[in-house]
Amino acid sequence: MDREVIVTSKEEFLPGIFRMCLETGKDFSEQSEPGQFIQVEVSPGPFPVTRRPFTISRTYSSSIEIVFETVGRGTVLLSEVETGSTVRVLGPLGSGYELNSGGWLLVGGGLGAAGFPGLVSFVDCRLLLLGASTKDKLLPVPGVSFLSITEDGSSGRKGLVTDLLESVPWDSVSNIAVCGPVAMMKAFIQRIPGEFTSSTQISAEARMGCGWGACEGCSIPKAGGGYLKCCTDGPVFPADSIDWERYGVVS
Ligand SMILES: Cc1cc2nc3c(=O)[nH]c(=O)nc-3n(C[C@H](O)[C@H](O)[C@H](O)COP(=O)(O)OP(=O)(O)OC[C@H]3O[C@@H](n4cnc5c(N)ncnc54)[C@H](O)[C@@H]3O)c2cc1C
Ligand code: FES
Repeated sequence: MDREVIVTSKEEFLPGIFRMCLETGKDFSEQSEPGQFIQVEVSPGPFPVTRRPFTISRTYSSSIEIVFETVGRGTVLLSEVETGSTVRVLGPLGSGYELNSGGWLLVGGGLGAAGFPGLVSFVDCRLLLLGASTKDKLLPVPGVSFLSITEDGSSGRKGLVTDLLESVPWDSVSNIAVCGPVAMMKAFIQRIPGEFTSSTQISAEARMGCGWGACEGCSIPKAGGGYLKCCTDGPVFPADSIDWERYGVVS
């Protein structure tokens, strides 16, 4: 669906991090699954040419919410859109999480946790591990037990999210969802007990053009050779479908 939607609310709830609610209509919100994303036209003008992808953070009866950080021109333009104005939105796009039964461990690095508020209402989340550079980048996920860690020690322990692995009650975990920077996901996959790799799903990061499979701008290396399209094969993938040696390496 490609439609003009009303921005019904916008809030800068952490410095440079916005929560925005979009009145998409019931059909759009009902079809949105945890892990899917939308492509937003951040400006009515000719630039930037390409839309920007954002995870659907959560859904309401006829609206969806996104959470985004201002990192460049597109996200700054989006943050300046006034409540009551409209933006053009394409979605819901991509394939989301396989909502398997059993206990879930969720692991989010920075804005990687943006999609978890929606996911936790569909799965049995036993523990959420949150990591960020500093406390102002730790995204709250209401209603779940969590442990947090920051690189500068401003909230929770000082360190990286992988340092929290020792606190995971592995006996109660059957599924793992990981989303964050590629380096963080790689480090995490290397450190989890081997038997959990096949039940781990990751939400991949890639620069996107079209968002629907036409431009091949979002390719990520596939285990065993070749490439996957982040926008249509993912963005959520089984962790063992990715070639972690090649992913994130600039050639
Ligand atoms: C499937 C998907 C879901 C996403 N969901 C969210 C979300 O929920 N919240 C959120 O804040 N961001 C999300 N992103 C990242 C977001 O799309 C980018 O931050 C945004 O496109 C940047 O646009 P810009 O014009 O502001 O920045 P640009 O000027 O294009 O770039 C600014 C900086 O951000 C980096 N960057 C841009 N796009 C990406 C990207 N896709 N991945 C990693 N780094 C990038 C650039 O390398 C550069 O350093 C998602 C990306 C994908 C692919
Ligand atoms: S963004 Fe165009 S093919 Fe994926």
